[in-house]
Amino acid sequence: MTASDPVSRAAELRALLHRYGHEYYVLDAPSVPDGEYDRLFRELEAIEAAHPALKSTDSPTQRVGGKPLPQFQPVPHAVPMLSIRTETDVTAQGALAFDASVRKELALTEADAPVDYAAELKFDGLAISLRYEGGVLVRAATRGDGVTGEDVTQNIRTVGQIPLRLFGNAPPLLEVRGEVYMRRDDFDAMNEKQLAAGAKTFVNPRNAAAGAVRQLDPAIAATRPLSFFAYGVGEVSGWEGAPAAHSALLDALAGFGLPVCAERVRTQGGAGLAAFHDRVAGLRAALPFDIDGVVYKVDALALQQELGFRSREPRWAVAHKFPAQEMLTTVEAIDVQVGRTGAITPVARLQPVFVGGVTVTNATLHNEDEVRRKDVRVGDTVIVRRAGDVIPEVVGVVLERRPMVDEAGGDLFSPVQRPQYAPFELPKACPVCGSHVVREEGETIARCSGGLFCSAQRKEAIRHFAGRRMMDIEGLGERYIDNLVDLDYVHGIADLYRLTLADLLEMKQRADERDGMVPETVKAGQVASKWAENLIDGIAASKRPPLARLLFALGIRHVGESTAKTLADWFGDLALIRQAPAPLLRVLPDVGATVADSIADFFAEPKNQQALDALLAAGVAPADTHAPSAAWRDKLAPAELYAALGVAKLTPVRARQLAEVAPSPQALIDLDESTLSGLPADVRASLLAWLANAENGAMLRALGAQRDALLESLPADLAPQGVLSGKTLVLTGALPSLTRDEAQAMIEAAGGKVSGSVSKKTDYVVAGEAAGSKLAKAESLSVAVLDEQGLRALLGGV
Ligand code: IVH
Repeated sequence: MTASDPVSRAAELRALLHRYGHEYYVLDAPSVPDGEYDRLFRELEAIEAAHPALKSTDSPTQRVGGKPLPQFQPVPHAVPMLSIRTETDVTAQGALAFDASVRKELALTEADAPVDYAAELKFDGLAISLRYEGGVLVRAATRGDGVTGEDVTQNIRTVGQIPLRLFGNAPPLLEVRGEVYMRRDDFDAMNEKQLAAGAKTFVNPRNAAAGAVRQLDPAIAATRPLSFFAYGVGEVSGWEGAPAAHSALLDALAGFGLPVCAERVRTQGGAGLAAFHDRVAGLRAALPFDIDGVVYKVDALALQQELGFRSREPRWAVAHKFPAQEMLTTVEAIDVQVGRTGAITPVARLQPVFVGGVTVTNATLHNEDEVRRKDVRVGDTVIVRRAGDVIPEVVGVVLERRPMVDEAGGDLFSPVQRPQYAPFELPKACPVCGSHVVREEGETIARCSGGLFCSAQRKEAIRHFAGRRMMDIEGLGERYIDNLVDLDYVHGIADLYRLTLADLLEMKQRADERDGMVPETVKAGQVASKWAENLIDGIAASKRPPLARLLFALGIRHVGESTAKTLADWFGDLALIRQAPAPLLRVLPDVGATVADSIADFFAEPKNQQALDALLAAGVAPADTHAPSAAWRDKLAPAELYAALGVAKLTPVRARQLAEVAPSPQALIDLDESTLSGLPADVRASLLAWLANAENGAMLRALGAQRDALLESLPADLAPQGVLSGKTLVLTGALPSLTRDEAQAMIEAAGGKVSGSVSKKTDYVVAGEAAGSKLAKAESLSVAVLDEQGLRALLGGV
């Protein structure tokens, strides 16, 4: 509850701000986002401005920062470490207002030239002052309350980016002011380590950085990956030829070996500042570290002097923020959504909140475990984060604001409290179709088992199919898809192509009647039909997609744009892809076993094949069907395919051995066990068990047939026939001047193949020093044996 009279509200706000301030500055463990702190701070400022009598010296509005910790030695700042005013208008107007105030103070008229500014990033870390005497780092201090800071020299010395000695001609005394921060990737890595060690993790990079700097044990601080940017100076003396402008000052600091952020500009006037603000806003998400705005500074130091200070804040600088990325709001409900693959996703319905530049009403809670871990419940106050273009996320719950009720059994004076709402539980049945919700062992995602019986999954499948990067059906918006499915005009994707103008108009009429929203024009007998004509046109225009898009549109699990493109490039023809056994898919570049199996499983499902047939029958045909890629020739080598069969223990080396006795999938089916004597017993046993499975036999037959079909349709091999084409060679022993890889490359360049073991089919054995059993075997089989010189002669004297 919030108090309504200013006196109690101010007291309430002060108490809250003191606590949040302590959590933030001293404990480095804030329980609310900065945005919330700022909001309360501004509210208190406003009350104090309206009722000056309420201003007290202990108000959080009356001091600059936190107290020095007693454990660190206090360090007085000769030049105080001040803070800068924050411009809270996050639009371009904020930049223009600052320029206007500077011009006014300097009594400039319209006739005067624009003011030069230095514009920088506002780093989100911890302010630090580095004192260099004679170019050597002698002391590092935190800001503390601005007048007295804490001596953190030991910890700062561990920061690799901070020079212990300055380069060049540094002045005898130079205090460098800047920000210690932590990069996001360093932060993530550090948190992962903390997690693995069972230690506490940090909420954000700023708190992690602040915690590290104020770590009492420098050995621990040393393990925290800190970075630093210089942005100004404190006490300076004896600097000959000191720069006259801030931007030149930073250049000079960079010259001394101090890190200065490159993302800064020297610009003119309010428009220049606004342009910088705008550009950095776009850059923000891609930066490797957090910023919460930009800083504008009047560039000329003489003008800075002239402008001076107002109540401890410089008039020549301002921080211009971006919209907060984290805000508080409450959870009104937790719903679940059913996705295209049946994935059940819990979604928090939120009291609308403006965060990251947009109004957010929903935030994904990802999955059941995630909701449990964060223990998000209805009624909870939660921190919502939206950074860059990412989808809004619930970061955590402010537990102390959870609605509680008295529990029966507690007594009148100390009632026992329990949360008003129970922990979230995933529904057992799909909220859309009522099918079972299943969550398989080891899976984080629960799914509706209804498949395309579930209208939510049908809708999502159609939405995906029609998407811009898929079939790109113009005009088929979400609402039409919902109505087409709900009113039974469309069951599967192929039905889209059978829709008529009359169907669409009838659908619209029924939907309007159902919703009780029949437009006046319709009542008057006029039916708008342009949209329906456009939609029919849009559907018709999507009938000849590139094969890759059609494949992507089918919504096969794990098949994104790039896998779809690989399939299309390699096979060239849908007819081949829909029959491809998993091993044939597994040999493709960047297609792993999971993806290959998922594709094969999709096409093994008769319903999917029927849907595809229906689609083709409705006139959909890829526009770019072509012959398979010539690159297949290598991939179709039996050894490659065997290694992709998924037979346990059949490693690529063993697969190559197997290929020598079974040169095609059909030969593998007809295999005579006795020819496997070259394989170790465990490999042999594993292979025989695999072959004994009838399903695998059928798959091998299909693989053989597909391989033949592919080989037949391959474009003629344009590669010149090498002297070793069609020949198989075996390398053994150490050759005098060639490594094994070099020899292999030479043989392959000449069209030959290198095999790992000697058989009757071996054409040559190339034997070097210490050749063993292979040489003996070659001799026993009367296979020609060459030395390195012989090989070179064979290759034409290279
Ligand atoms: S200049 C007198 N420049 O923002 C002016 N400060 O209230 C001194 N900050 O905690 C500050 N980036 O640590 C300046 N490029 C920048 C900054 C910056 C971050 C921090 C600073 C202080 C706060 C200023």
